[in-house]
Amino acid sequence: MRPLATESVVILDPSQIHRPEENYKEYNDFIVSRTDKSDNDFRNFNVNLQTDVVYNTYALMHKNQTLDFVKRKAEKWCRLNKHKMTILEAVHLLDALIDESDPDTDLPNSVHAFQTAERIRADHPDEDWFHLTGLIHDLGKVMALWGEPQYCVVGDTFPVGCRFSQEIVFPETFKANPDTQVPEYSSKYGIYKPNCGLENVKMSWGHDEYMYHVLTGNNCKLPKEALYMIRFHSFYPWHCSGDYDYLCNDEDKEMLKWVKEFNKYDLYSKSDAVPDVKALTPYYEELIAKYCPGELCW
Ligand SMILES: [Fe+2]
Ligand SMILES: [Fe+2]
Repeated sequence: MRPLATESVVILDPSQIHRPEENYKEYNDFIVSRTDKSDNDFRNFNVNLQTDVVYNTYALMHKNQTLDFVKRKAEKWCRLNKHKMTILEAVHLLDALIDESDPDTDLPNSVHAFQTAERIRADHPDEDWFHLTGLIHDLGKVMALWGEPQYCVVGDTFPVGCRFSQEIVFPETFKANPDTQVPEYSSKYGIYKPNCGLENVKMSWGHDEYMYHVLTGNNCKLPKEALYMIRFHSFYPWHCSGDYDYLCNDEDKEMLKWVKEFNKYDLYSKSDAVPDVKALTPYYEELIAKYCPGELCW
């Protein structure tokens, strides 16, 4: 078992900063309606400084995330033999990830977790599982502290084993992906059957997929809506751009509205006041005890 990381890792989640803005109008309108920030105040960052980092992360991701690569990462991480820790320990471990380049916040990652959770709680007071989902949705990023390169931890996700959508950011970078030379993986459906369900689709490896396996592998009792939000919150080509509908089954289509609902709190809760983590902790400890108690295998 590997020890907990003691050194911090500088991380940048391209999902949070690179986005075709026109697709985000509904989210922008939503947040502008409830804060004193203008939508132009979000993700205003030093473009020259950030663009290279974002582009290079996606270029590496799109080159390396083949079907075979994803299977190897799943084989490595789904054993859940890296560490044992509670959910709350993982939340605080995220503080060793520094979003140094995030223009919207210079706060620790655990603050993003509590902010997301609290904004959800304000709008959905009766769905306590949803609050906890906000708190834990990014915990899979601990992979970056355990040596995983960021191109398979953060950023938007997409199916592998079938044609890469033009709705994925920087689609031209897929030219370097060896799977584009494999006819079986390059057709619209690739290795999948029409409407086979996302459950049967191999997604690019990242913090969404890892956290889904941590939760299911530890028999956590969160409802399927929560598991969908966690597993697919970075699947922007689907929940934002409306692509890959042809791989979805009825359940996926039903769950899409929950993934979209989650996304607005994830993107924009950074505008909120810094939550009093100490005061909030007892409430979330109760939820953790209810849905994912004790030490989990990671
Ligand atoms: Fe995320
Ligand atoms: Fe997040």
